[in-house]
Amino acid sequence: MEQDKQISTKFIGPLLLKLVEEGLLGNTQRLELLSLGAVRSLKAEFPDLASSLGALVAKFAGSSSTLRLRGAAPPPADADAGLALLRVYPADDAKEPVLNEARRSNVERFITERMESEALLREGFAPPRTLLLKGAPGTGKTMLAKWMARRLNLPLVVLDLATSISSFLGKTGANLRRSLDYARGAPCVLLLDEFDAIAKRRDDSTEVGELKRIVNVLLKELEDWPFHSVLIAATNHPELLDPAINRRFDVVFDLPLPGFAERQAILESACAQFANGIPTGFLAAIAQCLNGCNGSEIDTIAQSVVRRHLIEKKALPSLFVDAVISRIPELKKEETAVLSRLLKETTELTVREIGRIVGRSSSAVQYQLTKKAARKLARRGKDEH
Ligand SMILES: Nc1ncnc2c1ncn2[C@@H]1O[C@H](COP(=O)(O)OP(=O)(O)OP(=O)(O)O)[C@@H](O)[C@H]1O
Ligand SMILES: [Mg+2]
Repeated sequence: MEQDKQISTKFIGPLLLKLVEEGLLGNTQRLELLSLGAVRSLKAEFPDLASSLGALVAKFAGSSSTLRLRGAAPPPADADAGLALLRVYPADDAKEPVLNEARRSNVERFITERMESEALLREGFAPPRTLLLKGAPGTGKTMLAKWMARRLNLPLVVLDLATSISSFLGKTGANLRRSLDYARGAPCVLLLDEFDAIAKRRDDSTEVGELKRIVNVLLKELEDWPFHSVLIAATNHPELLDPAINRRFDVVFDLPLPGFAERQAILESACAQFANGIPTGFLAAIAQCLNGCNGSEIDTIAQSVVRRHLIEKKALPSLFVDAVISRIPELKKEETAVLSRLLKETTELTVREIGRIVGRSSSAVQYQLTKKAARKLARRGKDEH
């Protein structure tokens, strides 16, 4: 009894005041966060109250009282430029990006935690709401955001910051606010693409005030983002981001360049329909020669090979070899060895001619074609990741 009294004066009193204040101010997200804290604090002493409060938050946090994205008002557009700030896509046909095992399990965990939002909220814990995707160009950041929207069964709303910032000089803060308000109105995945565009303007002194406003809008947004939506920001220059912004994300994924297995999987997926015309192990060898390429480059190579195959009626393997030959200056020694073997297997060229193509002497190529050299290469391919 004595303890109850203590909780009511020390904890419930100030909490009640804070709850009413945030409620009157209309800060739904703060109200929800405060309530989650209360669920956790009350759980031990007042389990029934904690569970009713958790259920209440879970019930309201999963939906939204304002407009629905689909079918409702169109996305906000800038009146002057006539350019839509946001694009709303259904994500139903998004493809799964090829990721390494570690990254894939991170993605799955994020999705599971989102799917279990209600269970987490009932216990007084927040599901992850904000995700930062970092990675070199063409590593599949945009693709992953679309895929996650599909898995979460939410529409994808995209705000390309590179376009909106340069189009709305002087008014970006206000425009950003309007876009974000719209996106938070109903469950969705909001993708802030080219997120570093904000940071890139930092050295332009004429825009310092504007930039500050944008950073402040974003900081507040990241903190107050509603439970029913996911905010994903994608950048290939994470080092340019304000550290304060970087820290605010619930989860950060780094997307690396694809390793050997991923390169092979991207090629296989692009050529899935034509598997019959490709000898076993051939795409693995091509994947070795594409070391250092990003997913986008590999997909582009495969698509162009497939197009040529369909139109020029040439065999896929020789077209792939052509594509690799065009990358010779970038190939390392061991990759030229793989190419030599491919040329030997797929063409009628002599060792000397192969040597001329790959830029090695005939005797070097002769060695590259021995079984011993092949075994060494196969081991390397397996080790690389
Ligand atoms: N990991 C991957 N798996 C399969 N395909 C990929 C992968 N990464 C890239 N691609 C291919 O490249 C295309 C472009 O990738 P995406 O636009 O997602 O890259 P990004 O990381 O967003 O690049 P940027 O930084 O330039 O915006 C994809 O549509 C897809 O066809
Ligand atoms: Mg992108």
